[in-house]
Amino acid sequence: MAALILDGKRLAARLNEQTAAAAREWAEHTACRPGLGVVLVGDDPASVSYVTAKERACAAVGFHSGEHRLPASASQQEVLAVVRRLNDDPAIHGILVQLPLPKGIDEQTVVEAIDPGKDVDGFTPVNVGRMMIGQPCFLPCTPHGIIRLLIDSGIETAGRHAVVVGRSNIVGKPVAHLLMRKAPGGNATVTVCHTGTRGLAGFTRQADILVVAAGRPRTVTGEMIKPGAAVIDVGVNRVADASAPRGYRLVGDVDFDSACGVAGWITPVPGGVGPLTIAMLMRNTLEAAQRAAARDSRGGKG
Ligand code: GUN
Repeated sequence: MAALILDGKRLAARLNEQTAAAAREWAEHTACRPGLGVVLVGDDPASVSYVTAKERACAAVGFHSGEHRLPASASQQEVLAVVRRLNDDPAIHGILVQLPLPKGIDEQTVVEAIDPGKDVDGFTPVNVGRMMIGQPCFLPCTPHGIIRLLIDSGIETAGRHAVVVGRSNIVGKPVAHLLMRKAPGGNATVTVCHTGTRGLAGFTRQADILVVAAGRPRTVTGEMIKPGAAVIDVGVNRVADASAPRGYRLVGDVDFDSACGVAGWITPVPGGVGPLTIAMLMRNTLEAAQRAAARDSRGGKG
């Protein structure tokens, strides 16, 4: 039997409607409008398209967004100056620096310059640390979207074996943490595989929930999947296709056709995890704005 498709696009549309309604209601009481500052350095086509999608989402839920584009030749000091300006801008509640940054700019230095209260990506050490110890924080958007999709689809995680392929700071490490934490969508036993793993298929075949964030097409094929497993494909890869209007098409890290005949559930690419990342970013931005307003009403004290 073919796997059930986990429709991230539909869930994201529902979440965005809720965020838009909450923002409207909040605006009626406060006359405040959440604002997201988006920083894009260089012109990597994938990054340009992600940033465009994030700005469109802001407009759709009624947020203000400001784009700050710098050339690939920008210095680290120039990027840091933009981040500091956004930290000080009261109309901006969330800051997103699209990663990866061009060579020559230290990503960690830039991320650490973001005010943790505006870190709607959940990438700063303060938010990562708070997540690890179960304190209120901004959760990183893609991992949070994956957990939300599992919960919403009725896929049990408690007591199940979740295998994560990939150990990035953006997806692999945080999603492994969220899957194991004592909370809805968690309580799983988690294995993390990476480029140093020997015998990847031996691990992936044990997974009740398989999250693939390896950044390489066909990292997982049908014979590497346990029958009935939930497969979450985080990859977005452009592969040349002369018959496609733009000369390429998007594929995930999982070979969709062979996986579909084995898995119980699977996310498509596009239309799976990607829209949920953006929906979670909108939620974090609203929360950042509401937290800032609450701080201001207490006289600016923490
Ligand atoms: N690059 C890939 N995914 C992300 C993300 O979620 N946030 C940012 N800022 N950059 C990314």
